[in-house]
Amino acid sequence: MEDIVVKRIDITDPIYTQVYDLREAMLRQPIGLSLKNEDLSADALNAIFIAQQGDKVIGCVMLYPIADEEKIKLRQMAVHEEWQGKGIGKKLVDAAEHYAKEIGYSAIILHARTVAEGFYKNLGYYTTSSEFTEVGIPHVVMEKDIF
Ligand SMILES: CC(C)(COP(=O)(O)OP(=O)(O)OC[C@H]1O[C@@H](n2cnc3c(N)ncnc32)[C@H](O)[C@@H]1OP(=O)(O)O)[C@@H](O)C(=O)NCCC(=O)NCCS
Repeated sequence: MEDIVVKRIDITDPIYTQVYDLREAMLRQPIGLSLKNEDLSADALNAIFIAQQGDKVIGCVMLYPIADEEKIKLRQMAVHEEWQGKGIGKKLVDAAEHYAKEIGYSAIILHARTVAEGFYKNLGYYTTSSEFTEVGIPHVVMEKDIF
């Protein structure tokens, strides 16, 4: 777990291509989809947090401003399969929460895959919706106050 760095980037950073590849491998390929078929223009509006070991991106999460002055949306949470269960997802969410608070938001909202609901619950998020389908799989809305 040594030399793992968590930092914020935007899409102009050359390492963003690795974030794309990680999202494709961890969030799209397993459900038979591809980011190639999605409009990623909103990525430019996102704060992107990465976990890096050396020059390799091993985890990411993004914060996306929505039409709400108090809440910001956390999305595209992924940790490389070889690095899961080592606290990297938690570190990334912590970094995103700190930043969201710093820039004036008081809550985080997210669409959690139900398989990851326990991960977010563990980090203090609570479920605010019933199940719905997104990208073809079950999700719930979750929120956490960060003030
Ligand atoms: C979900 C995911 C981001 C978690 O990242 P991670 O680095 O493996 O998680 P961490 O090691 O930081 O786990 C933090 C805590 O949550 C728990 N946890 C992790 N994944 C969990 C899950 N799916 N369900 C329940 N609890 C979970 C861990 O046991 C740990 O608990 P502890 O602090 O009591 O030891 C990662 O497994 C992943 O990328 N999965 C595939 C993509 C995905 O489903 N993304 C979420 C989309 S909404």
